[in-house]
Amino acid sequence: MIGKLNHVAIAVPDLAAAAAQYRDTLGAKVSAPNDEPDHGVTVVFVELPNAKIELLHPLGEGSPIAPFLERNPSGGIHHICFEVDDILAARDKLKADGARVLGDGEPKTGAHGKPVLFLHPKDFCGTLIELEQA
Ligand code: CO
Repeated sequence: MIGKLNHVAIAVPDLAAAAAQYRDTLGAKVSAPNDEPDHGVTVVFVELPNAKIELLHPLGEGSPIAPFLERNPSGGIHHICFEVDDILAARDKLKADGARVLGDGEPKTGAHGKPVLFLHPKDFCGTLIELEQA
């Protein structure tokens, strides 16, 4: 059911430092910071040949990644995103198999303007999983 790895999202306490590290030390292609107020994050996209890394930093009050950074002050992997062809079919199969879909279970528009859902980390080896209809 799941297809390509779309991205790995890493919450970082210092976005400029993290972007510089990926650009200068790791030699990756790195975007300018993008504010995404609807998602409470500023994102730097790191483009790899086979997937993206998204460096996330809290934006505004009540950012969904602020509590994560409080627990992980030096940063850490926040979620991974797999592509699916049909997000509603994927959701229905997951729910039938007992996996918990976060929120009201309806896909939301994600950071790339496509429908996304998140799955409870306790159901997937402690990893928050995002599904994106590619
Ligand atoms: Co994501």
